[in-house]
Amino acid sequence: MGKKLYIETLGCAMNVRDSEHIIAELKTKESYDLTEDINEADLILINTCSVREKPVHKLFSEIGHFNKIKKKDAKIGVCGCTASHLGEEIIKRAPYVSFVLGARNVSKITEVLHKEKAVEIDIDYDESTYAFSDFRSSPYKAYINISIGCDKQCTFCIVPSTRGEEISIPSELIINEARRAAQSGAKEIFLLGQNVNNYGRRFSSGDEKINFTELLRRVSQIEGIERIRFTSPHPLHMDDEFLEEFASNPKICKSMHMPLQSGSTEILRRMKRGYTKEWFLNRAFKLREMVPDVHISTDIIVGFPGENDKDFEDTLDVVKKVKFEQIFSFKYSPRPLTPAKDYEDQVPQEIASERLSLLQEMHKEMLDDIAKKQKGKVFNVYFEELKPGGYVAGRSDNNFIIKVKGSEELLGEFRDVKITKPGRLSLEGEVIA
Ligand code: 5AD
Ligand code: SF4
Repeated sequence: MGKKLYIETLGCAMNVRDSEHIIAELKTKESYDLTEDINEADLILINTCSVREKPVHKLFSEIGHFNKIKKKDAKIGVCGCTASHLGEEIIKRAPYVSFVLGARNVSKITEVLHKEKAVEIDIDYDESTYAFSDFRSSPYKAYINISIGCDKQCTFCIVPSTRGEEISIPSELIINEARRAAQSGAKEIFLLGQNVNNYGRRFSSGDEKINFTELLRRVSQIEGIERIRFTSPHPLHMDDEFLEEFASNPKICKSMHMPLQSGSTEILRRMKRGYTKEWFLNRAFKLREMVPDVHISTDIIVGFPGENDKDFEDTLDVVKKVKFEQIFSFKYSPRPLTPAKDYEDQVPQEIASERLSLLQEMHKEMLDDIAKKQKGKVFNVYFEELKPGGYVAGRSDNNFIIKVKGSEELLGEFRDVKITKPGRLSLEGEVIA
């Protein structure tokens, strides 16, 4: 019997891809097979996120629980951003943990597995050209990293300290990986990086320097690839050339993540975001004008130090004007290793909570309105997932989750779907062609 690996992934899409790399390395080099049953696992991994405080607290109760229910000789490893950030402290607080593997040290997974109490968290480690073994959790879409690390110094964000300096992955490696994915049947490519439209900023060797717009053009020329998505772009780097490519290239899905963070120019300055309220609005309006059906999602932090009622009003104002199709909203969480945690004017929790619910309530109404308008419209859907109750779900080009009655034969297929029952979280429809 082969050895069994149980892995839990928290956080962002980068972490999802890091987990796929970990699984690939363990499968091909150590003969592990995945299991969803933690009780039979020989190795239990948790790939952590440290962007907010809550999941970090949860980590210790979670691994404590793993330790109680695991098989006698099973190992527990902690990977990801909290591993980078806490390092050895994890083993001190939870001595039953066998190793700690940072978010920028994924390629060392087979090494740490054989070193008792190994802690590999070097944030200067360069894995940008490491050839990982292949594993993809979905046969229909392929996540591909295009850079590691992040050079932005947003004052709220711990990521530069957990994932280190930004290095772009050579375009040739990205293109080859996309080709392989297409050959194995993936029709959708998801390009990943902390700051994708800053692609080309720095390579670790003498590779050809191209920017993100050019990378998109090249990926879209690969035979078999029908859709391209990417995350996360930065509003500051949304120049006209990029928006024009986004608008005119039929393979680029018409869904853009534009992390606003705050609508107040003063708070944006304190966050060191590099743009103003006006710049953000200008880019969002231009995008809506160029791509009429575009879906714009965003991230918003409320209660950043110094945020007053007027600043929060500015955030609501941008939300009203842009009418985001999706908002990920968070209360500011002071993080270690970030400048903003030491700012004097921290906002009381009650005020931040109040602002968060105001924002979310306002957006719910917008979403009802957006959903209603979709009734009767026809979308081309790429089906990816079976859902309970005899449904199959996929996404429209502009990122609506759409479900229809159906089964396996729709998976990996494109169909035109007419919306019959619009909902806030997903739209239901009927296949018409
Ligand atoms: N507090 C709250 N939210 C944060 N994010 C990043 N750092 C913090 C923090 N300290 C949010 C940002 C980012 C998303 C991934 O997480 O909105 O875009
Ligand atoms: Fe979480 Fe950020 Fe790390 Fe992703 S990069 S896992 S969001 S801390």
